[in-house]
Amino acid sequence: MASLIKLFPVEHLADGKMRRVTVQGQNLVIVRQGDEFFALADRCTHENYALSDGFVESGKIGCPMHGATFELRSGAVLTPPAYEDVAVYPVRIVNGLVEVEI
Ligand code: FES
Repeated sequence: MASLIKLFPVEHLADGKMRRVTVQGQNLVIVRQGDEFFALADRCTHENYALSDGFVESGKIGCPMHGATFELRSGAVLTPPAYEDVAVYPVRIVNGLVEVEI
């Protein structure tokens, strides 16, 4: 059963930045672009490096190791050498707090 987990206040993550969190034993990366927040599994599907050590640009997140990129909204792989999508989780803002459903 899915749970809504409170993470942190919106202002604790600046536009264009990302942050690693651990929720129920799973490592996630939370990304902010403008007023939108995204949550993805913090694990590249190529060789398991942390995406939170990588880069974010215009709707995508990139792996620091070999440069694979994934769409923030869907987790779809955009660039090899990864060929599998990354899991994404619904995010919402409630009373100024970022919450993730996992
Ligand atoms: S580990 Fe991410 S692209 Fe290779």
